[in-house]
Amino acid sequence: MSSEAVFVPSEAVVSRTHVTAEQYGAQYARSVSDPDGFWGEQARRIDWIKPFTKVKNTSFEWPDISIKWFEDGALNVAANCIDRHLATRGDQTAIIFEPDDPKAEARHITYRQLHDEVCRFANVLKGLGVKKGHRVTIYMPMIPETAYAMLACARIGAIHSVVFGGFSPDALAGRINDCDSAVVITADEGRRGGKSVPLKTNVDVALEDCPGVEKVLVIRNTGGPIAMKGSRDVWWHEAAAGVDPVCDPEPMNAEDPLFILYTSGSTGKPKGVLHTTGGYLVYVSLTHELTFDYRDGEIYWCTADVGWVTGHSYILYGPLANGATTLMFEGVPSYPDAGRFWEVVDKHKVNIFYTAPTAIRALMGAGDQFVERADLSSLRLLGSVGEPINPEAWLWYHRKVGRERCVVIDTWWQTETGGFMISPLPGAIPTKPGSATKPFFGVQPAVLDPESGKVLEGEASGVLAIADSWPGQMRTIWGDHQRFKETYFQQYKGFYFTGDGCRRDEDGYYWITGRVDDVLNVSGHRLGTAEVESALVAHPKVSEAAVVGFPHEIKGQGIYCYVTLMADEPASDELAAELRNWVRKEIGPIASPDCIQFAPGLPKTRSGKIMRRILRKVAENDYGSLGDTSTLADPAVVDDLIANRKNR
Ligand code: WT7
Repeated sequence: MSSEAVFVPSEAVVSRTHVTAEQYGAQYARSVSDPDGFWGEQARRIDWIKPFTKVKNTSFEWPDISIKWFEDGALNVAANCIDRHLATRGDQTAIIFEPDDPKAEARHITYRQLHDEVCRFANVLKGLGVKKGHRVTIYMPMIPETAYAMLACARIGAIHSVVFGGFSPDALAGRINDCDSAVVITADEGRRGGKSVPLKTNVDVALEDCPGVEKVLVIRNTGGPIAMKGSRDVWWHEAAAGVDPVCDPEPMNAEDPLFILYTSGSTGKPKGVLHTTGGYLVYVSLTHELTFDYRDGEIYWCTADVGWVTGHSYILYGPLANGATTLMFEGVPSYPDAGRFWEVVDKHKVNIFYTAPTAIRALMGAGDQFVERADLSSLRLLGSVGEPINPEAWLWYHRKVGRERCVVIDTWWQTETGGFMISPLPGAIPTKPGSATKPFFGVQPAVLDPESGKVLEGEASGVLAIADSWPGQMRTIWGDHQRFKETYFQQYKGFYFTGDGCRRDEDGYYWITGRVDDVLNVSGHRLGTAEVESALVAHPKVSEAAVVGFPHEIKGQGIYCYVTLMADEPASDELAAELRNWVRKEIGPIASPDCIQFAPGLPKTRSGKIMRRILRKVAENDYGSLGDTSTLADPAVVDDLIANRKNR
């Protein structure tokens, strides 16, 4: 082992683990050499309506990219997440709902109640004309009804597309239109940190540009004032009154779509990542059980929003497939104060806690008194996801939250991967603060030379690619298989390209260093620089814009915008503020620029390409390594950029 800090699993951890170090080695080897045997066995963990006879049928060979798992099997995801638990754990809590307001009462929903709610929801959707294969957009707060809506879609074979409740009407409209949803599910308002979020009003604005939407199903959440529009808008409580609480699950082929989830890429338009039914469920249920070392009866809390893949895979589908008790939290870590997470842990005796480095850093900055006043003795395991975790935050998490008793796991994965790819298994893999450690079963990471694409062996730095398929992998981009192939398989032939850079150390541990493409990771949220740029240039006073990331203490990355104004348009602080609000309105608050620098010119090559490398260096305040600027059309531009750099 290397000289860095290494945390070896304690005896207590090893004695309860699903997978020991020895088993990890042997099973990993088998998962790679005999994927059909390995995954064929693992897939029996879920219930199949019609058993599969084929396991893996995948090709990464350009240009024939095709991914199929368990392709002749049939199953239903909702039945696996609910019905099959009823005989043994019908009265067990499936979902604990902790509201934003700490004084409001928490709700405990049993598996039996979940069954009734989901069946009724499914029948309401059927009543609105939703059929197998239809797309349903869900724009909701973090309330149990969101889980019912998603599971109801899965039950009747409709494809859900959840859009994060923090996105703007414009962003919502684009996502509704891209997948042609005729039905949108929303709530009157959401609640976060004591403030209300005008979800239904946002839907009303979005739908001005969505001619295909026929019905909007509205859940009454806050009771706040909203407008209901004629025959289009339907109250859930009215539609659900007297509806049949029984709805048979639709048999779905393993490769039928389960959901679409939009995520940012390096070009302007978000990609509709498509996940299917069988492989996804097998993968999220196995990874949830083994990576969290989940045991029956434990209370599990993932703090993500269901609007992101983390919420899909590890609030909903993975935990419920395993019959777990999963906590849904409506609020934010800082409300009413920076002790809220720890109060919720104590209140519900949470055993497994899973959050993002940005939250850890923010809470660390708020002072130790908040975490120190909590008991936290129920905690056993702490997880991290969304962005690289700096060793300082890892160690604070371990010491202050985990009281040096809990395992800390850093899980690397993506919307595209469906589930965990590189992560410690608690009883099997010693951890190093800041490293996601080793691959999960069936995952074959490769470090490639970014230029030549050559596979690098041993200790190496380069870009991270995956050499073969795993069951949770996305199957395509909704409506654009060509873009799917080009985005992930064209640059490095024979591999799935992740877009991340990484280093593999002398122990074979992986250290993810962040995106190598034009994707930003702001507080664990993925954003394309091109998305922010197109929002900026849509403003009448902006002629050109270039956006880059810079290291940010809390957010991981901040957003730095270089803006060229229209001729004769004077720059001012007021205009900078106006542009900041403009971007928030166009995309959503997560895209708020941290810095706006007005630049009369941007550094371009003679062929007109913006040299982002230089813009990144200026934003980072790192002029020593600007590199070769001689190819610029006008090298003097750089001096102006440096002279007018914004201090953050
Ligand atoms: C990108 C994927 C996976 C769910 C949340 C984000 C970054 C994610 C880690 C980690 C370092 C990480 C990568 C990745 N990322 N987890 N543990 N260590 N980086 O999903 O929005 O699809 O973003 O997030 O850059 O490519 P996503």
